[in-house]
Parts: sequence; C-alpha cells; structure tokens
Amino acid sequence: MRLEGKKAIITGAAQGLGRAIALDFAAEGAEMLLADIQGEKVAQVAALIGENGGRAEVVEVDVTDAARVEAMIQSAIALFGDVDILVNDAGGSGTVGIQQIEDVTEEMWDAQIDLNLKGTFLACKAMVPLMRKRGYGRIVNISSSTAKGNFGALGTSAIRLPYASAKSGIIGFTYQLAKDVAPDGIYVNAVMPGFILTEEGARVRGRYEILNENDQANMTSTVPLGRAGRADEVAKAVTFLASDDASYTTGTILEVTGGR
Ligand SMILES: NC(=O)c1ccc[n+]([C@@H]2O[C@H](COP(=O)([O-])OP(=O)(O)OC[C@H]3O[C@@H](n4cnc5c(N)ncnc54)[C@H](O)[C@@H]3O)[C@@H](O)[C@H]2O)c1
Repeated sequence: MRLEGKKAIITGAAQGLGRAIALDFAAEGAEMLLADIQGEKVAQVAALIGENGGRAEVVEVDVTDAARVEAMIQSAIALFGDVDILVNDAGGSGTVGIQQIEDVTEEMWDAQIDLNLKGTFLACKAMVPLMRKRGYGRIVNISSSTAKGNFGALGTSAIRLPYASAKSGIIGFTYQLAKDVAPDGIYVNAVMPGFILTEEGARVRGRYEILNENDQANMTSTVPLGRAGRADEVAKAVTFLASDDASYTTGTILEVTGGR
C-alpha cells in the first residue's frame, strides 16, 4: 500500500494508461478524483474501484479548458481537503493517420499541442500553488518515445509530427518545473512509454489492429524485449514516481519502452 492515505487526481482515466494507473493507485491505497472528457466512461472506472473497496470520484473535464481544469482542482480540494498527487495522462495522437508535414494543418498542430502539452501546463499551473502552500506534491507527466522520432510507417502514433513535438515539450517542461518547485517539496517527473498495447476498445489497440501484418511486426522488431508493453507495466512506473519510494527522484524521465 505505497499510496495509503494519499489523494490523487488522474486525468485521462476513462481508458488506456490512465485507467490502468487509476486501478494501480487504488490497489496501493490512494483516494482519487478521476478526470476525463468521457464522463460516462470514467464513471465506470470509478464504479469498478468502488466495487473493490476503493474510493474514486469523477469529474468530466476537457484538459485544454483552463476554467474547467481550475474547477477540477477545486473539486478535488472540496472532496479530499488536499491533493498529494497529480497525474497528467490525458493526451494521445488521435485516430486519423497523418504522416508527412505537408498534410499537417495548422488546426491539427494546435489541437495536438493543446491536448498533449498545454493540458499538462494548465493542470500544473492550477495545482502547484496549492502544493507549494503545503510544501508537498508529486506530479507525474506522460511523454512518449515518439518524442525521439520514429522512422518509417506511422505505427500507432496517428499524427506523429505535432504529437512528437508536444511530447518533447513535456520533457523540457518536466525538467524545468522540477527545478522551479523542488525547494517547495514538489517533485515533478515524467514517464516515457514506448509501444503499449492498451485494453480492447482503447485507442492504441484500435490503431494497432488496423495495421497490416508487416507494420505490426515492425512495431515490435526494434524493441529489445521483443514485445509491446502492457498498461499495468506503465502504471507501476507512475506509482513508483508518485510514491515516497521516489524520495530522491525529481526531474527524471523514466522510460518504459522495453529497452532502446
Ligand atoms: N499507449 C501507448 O502506447 C502510449 C505510448 C506513449 C505515450 N502515451 C501517452 O499516454 C497517455 C494515455 O494514452 P492511451 O494510450 O491510454 O490513450 P487513450 O486515447 O486510450 O486514452 C486517453 C484518455 O484521455 C482522454 N482525453 C482525451 N482528450 C481529453 C481532453 N481534452 N480532456 C480530458 N481527457 C481527455 C480520453 O477520453 C481517454 O480516456 C497519452 O498522454 C498518450 O499520449 C501512450
């Protein structure tokens, strides 16, 4: 029970990695506010946690909307009194495959940067002052190995140029914020997942299943461990960084990629 007594906010918790993180946090004893743009779906995750004896409340929020993000933080304070942990998981590269820069519109660019970078900024901006007051906080952001560039076919990163740019931004943002807030007892880290096959119906599995056999094989052929990762394997890394086991770890990007 590494998170016993801790109060957490997890964005993007309706499915995929966010859902897996919420389930692992519940198993480790955290109470949570689960936030997602898919209100009904995130409520199902909270219900599952409740059935297993945990506590998870929900809020429907678009993480690109500053006012809604501020309201999300205030809801958590109203529910729990304090927030110890913020996990910024909401993100993704969408479902429409765009490979070359010529095909990336300005709107696509803005939407990817807003979701994958600005959303994390907005949540941290609203959260940090409250964590500063208490002199305690754990923030975990989610980057992507796409930040280092991918070669060849699109794979599961549907619109990878702006996505890679936003996920690179998460790295710089995490390094800098970690330095800025370390004196206040706030730790800021990021997890960099590689190719993680999430549950049936979630975005990445859907993107993978429409690839031809050759492209599917290419996705794991360069992974030293020789397979896709599982969502629970990413969740374990997030739980470590959110816990006091990581008491001397801040400003780190933890790669969960099956090797490089
Ligand atoms: N699965 C992977 O292989 C992989 C690899 C690297 C990084 N990532 C990152 O991990 C995170 C989760 O990915 P996933 O595979 O679980 O994706 P997913 O699309 O299955 O889940 C993302 C969740 O975020 C929510 N969301 C989307 N837009 C939102 C918004 N504007 N406001 C609030 N919630 C919103 C969705 O409803 C969904 O529940 C993302 O940041 C993604 O970029 C995933």
